[in-house]
Amino acid sequence: MQVSNITASILDVACDVLIVNLFEGVTCPGGATGAVDRALGGQISEIIEREGFEGKLGQVMTVRTGGAIPARAVVVAGLGKAEKFDRGAVRKASAAAARRAAEMKASKVATILHGAGIGGMPARQSAQATVEGAIIGTYRFVAYKSEPDGHDIAELVIVDNDASKFADAEAGAARGRIAAEAVNRARDLINSPANEVTPSCLADYARRLASEAGLDVTVLEREDIEKLGMGAFASVAKGSAQPPKFIVLTYTPPAPSDRTCAIVGKGITFDSGGLSLKDGSSMATMKDDMSGAAAVLTAMGAIAEIRPPVKVMAIVAATENMPGGRATRPGDIVRAMNGKTIEVENTDAEGRLTLADAVSYAVREGADEIVDLATLTGACVVALGRGMSGLFCSDTSLESRLIECGKASGDLLWPLPLFDDYFENIKSDVADMKNTGGREGSAIAGALLIREFAAGKPWAHLDIAGPAYLDKDNGLAGKGGAGAGVRLLIEYLCGPA
Ligand code: BES
Ligand code: MN
Ligand code: ZN
Repeated sequence: MQVSNITASILDVACDVLIVNLFEGVTCPGGATGAVDRALGGQISEIIEREGFEGKLGQVMTVRTGGAIPARAVVVAGLGKAEKFDRGAVRKASAAAARRAAEMKASKVATILHGAGIGGMPARQSAQATVEGAIIGTYRFVAYKSEPDGHDIAELVIVDNDASKFADAEAGAARGRIAAEAVNRARDLINSPANEVTPSCLADYARRLASEAGLDVTVLEREDIEKLGMGAFASVAKGSAQPPKFIVLTYTPPAPSDRTCAIVGKGITFDSGGLSLKDGSSMATMKDDMSGAAAVLTAMGAIAEIRPPVKVMAIVAATENMPGGRATRPGDIVRAMNGKTIEVENTDAEGRLTLADAVSYAVREGADEIVDLATLTGACVVALGRGMSGLFCSDTSLESRLIECGKASGDLLWPLPLFDDYFENIKSDVADMKNTGGREGSAIAGALLIREFAAGKPWAHLDIAGPAYLDKDNGLAGKGGAGAGVRLLIEYLCGPA
């Protein structure tokens, strides 16, 4: 979708669909919507009155213009209650309206900035959220359909008649496009099947991105992984016929920076559970177990475009987790790169093993701050559902920054405790620790294990198992891979638009 901004009256813009809006409960539309209503002889007010259009968030209504204005049709998007209005509402309203426009086979769509007038939202934020909603909301995964159905909007034009808002609206729209396209790329990687998206495929993706975007890339092979002493990561890869890949992408800012942020993504391209095999229904969606990897890789593409003043290192220890004659057995003891030993009590707790070495590597490479994103535990999904990720953080400043970035980006985070007492649960009789600690508090046990490898650096662990993969539409994104964490990472590393 091409995105552009213009300063004009919406009554003058030629397009297939013009998107305006309405707060819930408003019966006499004002602002831009009021102007369109008057130009259409009061048709919008009439539909509100006769058909009971309430302006609920996600609700849309369509009005034909019959040539009264240059737009061929108008879609009115409900913004929900004015008291609850925020950027999340803008994304959902914009998504719903863009989906309706796509259903109407619109090619050129014009939209007002939701909430930048009566809603009082800064134009920059409104433009970003409006564009994110339109691009994320109209995503379709049709790569494997012989006859793809549906329609793509070719062009989105952001219209505002106030020239003083133009620069902000343009900057916000540009950021929104970059972020939303990164989200959709992550969704493509997650939704593509595990027979295609192998560790080698992720490595190729990183190499391609590096050459297109001007990033540095290093891919370590099985031999290098073993030589470096990454015994925890290597142990997960043993059952798979696919070679593991340890992927490092580095962004160096134009002006030298003394700060390096490492972002680490769990990259299990398929989690069968290994010898501690999952049952059929739990295994069904485990192609999504590389959602953390997808988030850090695609966020790097956005970072290369936005060029923040900080050095960023993206790390993915990519492998499948498969059973087989060479696979790691329950009871095996492995040694991670930092020398610590782990008893593998359950081969299905593989994510923390790969992250142990990936986080150690980040420390070794001089990261000042480490953020890992992982579809780590079913327990976190039970605790928080699909609406937010669990946040475990060793540093209060990093924690509050991440929570704020979560609110701004819509990738919500909820703090969970690194409760030291529970380290007891992962103490092993035969090694420094074991990789499971029983059913109770299992998201916490996973986080406590990874913390052992952060060497006291400010570190955050985001358990994205819930939001990574949607079983139903959430108003913004539909079923399947969601690209959780992509917008958060961009906000965290680049700041606001
Ligand atoms: N990839 C799974 C976690 C997961 C479960 C993600 C459901 C998304 C939805 C992870 O590797 C796993 O299997 N975790 C186990 C850990 C347990 C064996 C300690 C879990 O949460 O059940
Ligand atoms: Mn597992
Ligand atoms: Zn897993």
